[in-house]
Amino acid sequence: MSEETLSNLSREDRSFEPPAELAASANVTAEAYERASSDREAFWAEAAERLDWSQTWDRVLDWDDPPFAKWFTGGTLNAAYNCVDRHVEAGNGDRVALHWVGEPADDKRTITYADLQAEVCRAANALLALGVEAGDRVAIYMPMLPETVVAMLACARIGAPHTVVFGGFSSDALATRLVDCEAKVVVTADGGYRRGAPSALKPAVDEARTKASGDGFDVEHVLVVRRTGQDVDWDDDVDVWWHEAVDGASSEHEAQPFDAEHPLYVMYTSGTTGKPKGILHTTGGYLTGTSYTHHAVFDLKPETDVYWCTADVGWVTGHSYMVYGPLANGATQVMYEGTPDSPHRGRWWEIIQDYGVTIFYTAPTAIRTFMKQGREIPDGFDLSSLRLLGSVGESINPEAYMWYREVIGGERCPIVDTWWQTETGQIMISPLPGVTAGKPGSAMTPLPGISVDVVNDDGESVPHGSGGYLVVKEPWPAMLRTLWGDDDRFKETYWSRFRKQGFYFAGDGAKLDDDGDIWLLGRVDDVMNVSGHRLSTTEIESALVSHPKVAEAAVVGAADETTGQAVCAFVILRDSAGDGGDDIVEELRRHVQKEIGAIAKPRQIMVVPELPKTRSGKIMRRLLKDVAEHREVGDVTTLADSTVMDLISKKEGSGSGDDEG
Ligand code: PRX
Repeated sequence: MSEETLSNLSREDRSFEPPAELAASANVTAEAYERASSDREAFWAEAAERLDWSQTWDRVLDWDDPPFAKWFTGGTLNAAYNCVDRHVEAGNGDRVALHWVGEPADDKRTITYADLQAEVCRAANALLALGVEAGDRVAIYMPMLPETVVAMLACARIGAPHTVVFGGFSSDALATRLVDCEAKVVVTADGGYRRGAPSALKPAVDEARTKASGDGFDVEHVLVVRRTGQDVDWDDDVDVWWHEAVDGASSEHEAQPFDAEHPLYVMYTSGTTGKPKGILHTTGGYLTGTSYTHHAVFDLKPETDVYWCTADVGWVTGHSYMVYGPLANGATQVMYEGTPDSPHRGRWWEIIQDYGVTIFYTAPTAIRTFMKQGREIPDGFDLSSLRLLGSVGESINPEAYMWYREVIGGERCPIVDTWWQTETGQIMISPLPGVTAGKPGSAMTPLPGISVDVVNDDGESVPHGSGGYLVVKEPWPAMLRTLWGDDDRFKETYWSRFRKQGFYFAGDGAKLDDDGDIWLLGRVDDVMNVSGHRLSTTEIESALVSHPKVAEAAVVGAADETTGQAVCAFVILRDSAGDGGDDIVEELRRHVQKEIGAIAKPRQIMVVPELPKTRSGKIMRRLLKDVAEHREVGDVTTLADSTVMDLISKKEGSGSGDDEG
């Protein structure tokens, strides 16, 4: 980590004590830290007891064969039963589980826990009728609909691990995932509403299925929810309407217990190579970790709170803090289908006002977008129901923190800045709202039961005031168990950097301030963070070079005011492509969108004559980043040809190939 990065951190002296009322009745108080550190396993066992187990575990943690952890061995439980049925059995069947809000105005549904139970049972029976058995994988490629949650829980109920693929991903990205996890069934919809218009999903599934077949893998069935009513192509042997298969199925289904280590889901995420990694989460530890942290960090009072996490269910935040954590805790929550600006830019604030949302969890990129639009928009709505705010996905810069606190939180709501990853499954570093005095921009300290540190190259703890690598020193319940079908890559990616010490390496840089509080500094590998979503530079480079006109490509994440980082690409065209034509930049941007999805579309593409490389042929992305961020180019002495940067900078200066679209 360069000293430059560390010293760039602004000094922050402000801190905000927890509101007295919240502190007085907080779910978790300061004693938890001590209790957890005196006996970590006993602490997590107690957290696990918040769930209903069919069979209690024999052993809390089996770490005999690191890095392959087993939690609560010998224990059995059913995740869907824990998220749904047990609340009904406790007499809370009438409690609202989901206030679902469609994007078109007046398109709303209220789903109680009893409704959810009946629907999950029907869907479980429908999946069984389609031949899905425990252990089979089911892909879910859906908009934000109640059926999406139902499908996930139905899979969990019958022990079929799901893999949810974000609806914004392309058919190619979907196909890769279908093949990698050999999904027997895909659950999808004809389309969903986004930005005021129906957008189709089913055609992407059809294409993905054809591609997968080309790779020798056949999906057996596609279960299709009718949402928009748009025309769809239909294959009678494969396609089944949800309303035909599910609505007619029995609402009785007895949930079977599964082993605590039974796979619950696979979530694909970008790594440093082109191939996405299938993060595997299992049942007992994951549900323990997510439900406990949801209870602790959001201080949820299920009888009175209305909770809203704005994440899409296609990302891990939607899994841990919209589906499993909150539902295991019996929360009442809002689920919104569309974009924040449809049909007007105050839509989110209107939803908070209409449903009396008390706990709100979103990403810094959204907050910065609202900041730009001006406070008049949220000021037009009554946000007085809010009592706690959360942030996730990247560091929240102090300016956005203060705006969030003042404009949205009315200066009365604590902000929990939560650091975690797809791999960690659960929040790892965060203030506790009734305990911690939060500092704008810092995720503060590890949660009780979590052992995190900042270390130097040799794995030694750095002193307060210094920076280094963020590591996790002890196993935690919701940790990933492996990468789907690739134990070696799992070991290599997360456990080799500090093999001797046995630390999990998160891939993030961090700094400890003078009080020992943690400030996250971003990724130290070739992974970008765009709007809180992880993208791999290599994956986008592969997409670019798969275009017939491109010879070579280098991608960097450049600082962006709204999205945190933005994708910037430098490409060398093939001789046969000449100058590529007038539309080359747009053509390549569209190509990346087709290969990966709109989220990966570069903000800027520069066509350049050469790329900066070391003598051993490694592209020096650091120098390209200087160009993309309009900085003076750094040290070029290790370049094989030190004049290359002059050529690139000249192109930059002339603005050629720049496209901000
Ligand atoms: O770099 C960190 C950043 O997001 C990465 C994890 O991305 P993903 O697996 O997609 O999960 C996002 C939602 C949990 C981390 O390695 N990150 C996430 N939350 C924070 C953060 N960086 C700083 N502060 C955070 N609160």
